[in-house]
Order: sequence, then C-alpha cells, then structure tokens
Amino acid sequence: MPPSPDKYPYHHPLDSFLFPVRSVNQKKLAEAVSGKTILITGASFGIGAELAVRISHYPVTLVLVARTKEKLEEIKKQCGEKAVVQIYNTDLRDETAVNELITGLKVKEITVDILISNAGHSIYRKLADSLNRFHDTKRSSAVNFTGPVQLILGVLPGLTEKKGIVVNVSTVSLFLPHTAGWSAYHSSKAAFDHWLRCAEPEMKATGVSLCQVYLPLVRTRMSMIVEENHKRPAMSSAKAADVILHSIIRRRRKYRPWCIVIPRILDILAPDLWYRIQQNRLKNRKT
Ligand SMILES: NC(=O)c1ccc[n+]([C@@H]2O[C@H](COP(=O)([O-])OP(=O)(O)OC[C@H]3O[C@@H](n4cnc5c(N)ncnc54)[C@H](OP(=O)(O)O)[C@@H]3O)[C@@H](O)[C@H]2O)c1
Repeated sequence: MPPSPDKYPYHHPLDSFLFPVRSVNQKKLAEAVSGKTILITGASFGIGAELAVRISHYPVTLVLVARTKEKLEEIKKQCGEKAVVQIYNTDLRDETAVNELITGLKVKEITVDILISNAGHSIYRKLADSLNRFHDTKRSSAVNFTGPVQLILGVLPGLTEKKGIVVNVSTVSLFLPHTAGWSAYHSSKAAFDHWLRCAEPEMKATGVSLCQVYLPLVRTRMSMIVEENHKRPAMSSAKAADVILHSIIRRRRKYRPWCIVIPRILDILAPDLWYRIQQNRLKNRKT
C-alpha cells in the first residue's frame, strides 16, 4: 500500500544517503501480519498513525492506543476495510488506566501477537530551567519506560502463547555522545532499552522476539516543534514505518542507520571532544 501523504514534505539532499530504506515487500508484509492482532501505542500521530494505516490494508485486528480520542477516531476512519480496529484512549503514564487497558483486552479475549511500543514524549530543557520541574523526569519515565513495561507485562502471557513480537521504537541518540538538555528524554528511553535487553533472552526462550528500532531524526510533530530540525537530514514518518515493518517481517533484533558509525568513530578517536565543544559553547553563552 502507498504511504499516506507526507505532512512534512521537505527532503534534505542527504536523506537517502544517510538513511537508505528499501520499500516493503507487500507479499512478505501480508504473510507477517495477516490474521494477527497488533497493538500500536502512540497511534494517534506521527509514526504510530502511519503504521496503523499501512497495516490496516491487511486482514488484521488493530488495537490503537493513545490519549487523544478524536485523533484515534480520525485514524480509524483512514484505516482499510480489511482491518478490525479497536481504539483505547489511554494515558500510559497512568497506572490505573494501563491496568484498565490490559483488563479490557482480557475481557474481550483479545490476545496480542505483535506489540509495537511506539508512544513517546520528548523533552528538551536546560538544567537551569528544570529546577522546579522534577515532574519532567517523572512523566518522561512514565510514558517512555514504566508505562510500556506495565503494558508488556500485562500482555506477555498472550504474546508467549502466540510466539509473538515486541517492537520498541527507540532513538539512535542512545548510541551517541550525551547532549545537554536531553536528560529526561534520553534517560527514560535508555532505561526502557536496558529493561528490554535484560528481558530479551527470557522472552526469546519462550518464543517471543524483540525488535529494537533505533530511529534517527524523523519528521513528525515531536521533532518538528524545534525550528532548527526543519532543514536537517531526517526520515519521513513513512520511511520510519518501512523500517519498523521490515523489522517485523524479518524479526530483526536491531535496526540502526549505518551513519551512526561516524559520530561513534569520532567519539573513540576524541572521546571528550563533544563534551568540550558543548562546555565551551555554554560558557560563552553565559558571558
Ligand atoms: N520524531 C523523531 O525524531 C524520533 C526520533 C527517534 C525516535 N522517535 C520515537 O518515535 C516514537 C513515535 O514518535 P513520533 O515522532 O511519531 O512522535 P509524535 O508524532 O509526537 O507521536 C507520539 C505518539 O505518542 C503518543 N503519546 C504521547 N504521550 C502519551 C501518553 N502519555 N500516553 C499514551 N500515548 C502517548 C501520542 O499520542 P497522544 O498525544 O494522543 O497521547 C502520539 O500518538 C517515540 O517513541 C519517539 O521517542 C522519534
């Protein structure tokens, strides 16, 4: 199926060199998803919404989760007729709401084959602006780490029965030198990543595959809020969806764009370089 029209149609000349992505083979995708129940968190906007619409052109049951009910209803309307679509407006930061979601699925006898843990929230805030904002760290942890863990634990018995797949939509930043201002977002993404890495051998031993998808900058509501990102090399949400669908088809353990070797090699050759550049820049701004 063709990707939906791009909300952010800008293309940087380096996009396809830095982030080459093959189109998805429709036959293989049909084999991988047909007859399956697929739960997507963060399905109201961006990458999650793109995935929901793309997968809905096959005979699947889709469980779409996010906070914004109206947007979920809009996405449901865009879905293909072959899919049965259920929507749950759930705030992943709310433990009671996540429990209700898990119980609701059990009551309806919905067993998940593929869980795409995609919902996320990013925050960029300087330390000096964070002094009265401990809640940034708490909320980021809840949406990017503890909420997704609670959901996985809730649906794991069914996933095990179905020998299913957990997909984690993560960020390439976890492999790059640390950058000031991103403490809350990166630490919560890293915590979930580590939780999954520890759980993976046990999951795999019972037949459940883990696909970790470490995305670069993607042109969505989340990143395009930052003006400077508009003209930077990035993936479209359609390409990001392709990457995730490839991971599902092949049960690929990890995706990372090849180009992260560049900053990683630089970091090995000059381990403190990025730290010093940032420090100098911040010092100069003060004076
Ligand atoms: N965009 C990028 O540059 C980029 C790069 C690397 C990785 N990623 C990752 O990609 C994933 C998708 O992000 P996106 O770029 O598509 O951003 P987006 O367009 O802002 O979408 C984020 C989704 O998460 C949902 N969400 C946010 N807070 C939630 C909460 N408390 N409970 C339930 N759902 C919640 C949002 O829905 P509601 O607001 O309706 O709840 C929305 O559907 C995230 O995990 C992000 O970390 C993004």
